[in-house]
Amino acid sequence: MENTRQLAGRHVLLGVTGGIAAYKVPELVRRLRERGADVRVVLSHSASQFVAPGALAALGTPPLVETAEGMLHIDLARWADVIVIAPATAHVLARLAHGLADDLLTTTCLASTAPIYLAPAMNQAMWQNAATQDNRAALSARGLAFIGPAEGAQACGDTGPGRMAEVAEILAALEDRSHGTALQGVRAVVTAGPTYEPLDAARGVTNRSSGKMGYAIAAALAEQGASVTLVSGPTSLATPHGVRKVPVLTALDMHSAVLAQRDHMQLFVGAAAVADYRPQTALPAKLKKSGDTLTVTFVRNPDILAEVAALAPAPFTVGFAAETHDLEAYAREKLMRKGLDLIVANPIDEPGTGFASDHNRVTLIDRDGTYPWASAPKTEIARRLALEIGQRLARRSHA
Ligand SMILES: Cc1cc2nc3c(=O)[nH]c(=O)nc-3n(C[C@H](O)[C@H](O)[C@H](O)COP(=O)(O)O)c2cc1C
Repeated sequence: MENTRQLAGRHVLLGVTGGIAAYKVPELVRRLRERGADVRVVLSHSASQFVAPGALAALGTPPLVETAEGMLHIDLARWADVIVIAPATAHVLARLAHGLADDLLTTTCLASTAPIYLAPAMNQAMWQNAATQDNRAALSARGLAFIGPAEGAQACGDTGPGRMAEVAEILAALEDRSHGTALQGVRAVVTAGPTYEPLDAARGVTNRSSGKMGYAIAAALAEQGASVTLVSGPTSLATPHGVRKVPVLTALDMHSAVLAQRDHMQLFVGAAAVADYRPQTALPAKLKKSGDTLTVTFVRNPDILAEVAALAPAPFTVGFAAETHDLEAYAREKLMRKGLDLIVANPIDEPGTGFASDHNRVTLIDRDGTYPWASAPKTEIARRLALEIGQRLARRSHA
């Protein structure tokens, strides 16, 4: 039986863009309202050629189109508990991917920290075009969630992926979100990326971590309702939607930024590749070439993960182990020695996985067992990991 209570009282902002599937919008509005959702509809300019504003007004949701009215985009952005764009055209995916704010809908999306769901609908070739797929990947990496598209016969006569998900599927996705997960409201701190340890004014020691895994985890936790602070070393990645980012450079900076959250942290995920050692002195000017050899003394950096796991009370603490050999043995030893709740072990010497790659092959290890997962895109691993952490947090709070 469908649960009709989960959307009751929720503020759902429904964005509609210019595709044939917009004819399903009145049904979507009607079924959202049946479930007690408070619905407001925003049309792109071209959407009004596909769905009659009068039909929506008759359902009690006169659509909004223009930004001109005061600060409507800010009011809507703050009002929305969730934003869903259905149908989402190739054009709006491109606009969102590039942060364009050229109408009420995209300006509101940019101004909102609410979760955003996209139900794409377009010709199969448009969906499979590399430009659309790049936009999809960029939006997923930022934590926007896709519902569909489905495969099948299309209005244009083609067959393939690009049909808008059924209204029931869109409702189910929103109900899952509104129902809340075990991560709803959980205050999480995620570290990501490399650290940079200066040697002199121009040079330093760093590592090959891209930050992709940590950013994907921050996005997945936020998507599942956690309140996420992302403490990130230097990367070129965009901050995921709804995540608060604290940029840092060195391991010492990362240590202070993480421990500043000690009283508020219920979950800690240490995905950063933190330097174990730093040069004892960072020279203020550029070091000049002189002898044939150069000796630099390194000193130990603080162990952020171990310190967090030893806090009283400790947050649920998840570590990462990136290794080239003896991965499982090393990861298990690290889990026990540092008192972690969970460790995610990933090999960094396999082609196509690990550092800088978009894929990863991980093994989860806890005190009771070892759970290998199949290789998958980092965004998918992050979502699964967020679910897994949520379940473990729920079990812990019921224990
Ligand atoms: C009859 C017709 C049907 C269209 N259907 C779609 C569609 O299903 N999906 C899509 O991405 N674009 C479709 N387009 C193209 C969009 O309407 C066009 O890219 C428009 O600029 C989208 O603007 P918007 O995303 O701001 O609404 C269609 C255009 C026409 C004329």
